[in-house]
Amino acid sequence: MKSPLNVEPLTGVLGARVSGIDLKSELDKQVITLLRNAICEFEVVIVPDQSLTPEEQVKFSHLLGPYSPVPFVKPIDEHPEVIKVVKENTEPEAFNFGGVWHSDFSFLSTPPAFTILYAIDVPAIGGDTVWASTTAAYCHLDNDTKNRLHKITGIHSASASYSPDQQDLHSQLSNMTIETSETAKSTQEHPLVCKHPETGKPSLFFNPTYVRGLKGPELETAKEEELMKWLSQWTTGIQFTFRHKWSPGDLVIWDNRSTQHIALNDYKGERRELNRTTVSDSTKPSLYRP
Ligand code: SIN
Repeated sequence: MKSPLNVEPLTGVLGARVSGIDLKSELDKQVITLLRNAICEFEVVIVPDQSLTPEEQVKFSHLLGPYSPVPFVKPIDEHPEVIKVVKENTEPEAFNFGGVWHSDFSFLSTPPAFTILYAIDVPAIGGDTVWASTTAAYCHLDNDTKNRLHKITGIHSASASYSPDQQDLHSQLSNMTIETSETAKSTQEHPLVCKHPETGKPSLFFNPTYVRGLKGPELETAKEEELMKWLSQWTTGIQFTFRHKWSPGDLVIWDNRSTQHIALNDYKGERRELNRTTVSDSTKPSLYRP
């Protein structure tokens, strides 16, 4: 029988386009299962040509799982589960939200499984998002490096992004309310090599923004710094990436357990607005045991 979803891979590493689906219609269980499988397999899924109010986006998000709370960023009025990612055309020099490599809220004890971003207003040129597969970054390691990294724990924290000393940076965005806090300095440990709870695949659960340190046998300070630098470069290598040029009506769903991403800030004088929801995971990141 023909699948109700058309899934077209967009690179040989990650990213797929899904068509044949209207996300505001009543979606049956089979379609949701197929969509979820596509997200877990391709890590980033583009669903073009959608038309969703915040309420409809929330309803669709719930089909993938319960809401995952968003720290530091104020949601939009009347929709406590939706944040607006917006940079105005009058803010050419502002730092953009998500403008550094990160995996959403990896500093939480249970980071969100999926993030859903729906494009409302996007620049004619620029403002793309780039994702890197942390599954591919693990897969292409040699066996010695894999064995060494299995023993390492990542120390995650929002300190570099949401501590009070970062408030001025966030306040440059006039239509987003980001409230920094001392609580950003708390830390959370996760294994560096994690098992994806749905596919069982290993991934390097690292991102240079929220991983602030590493712990492991014989990992003294100099080696820790060296490994942090190496992981930052390796996990964001161009060979592991997929880049999306947004059109209004695109809805993109990504898996935070197998990717990290960056929003490019190359659209001076243009406006970019998207609505974002996050879906919680049912388990904490856990160590991959080969
Ligand atoms: C984010 O990191 O959630 C924002 C990504 C984007 O605006 O492209």
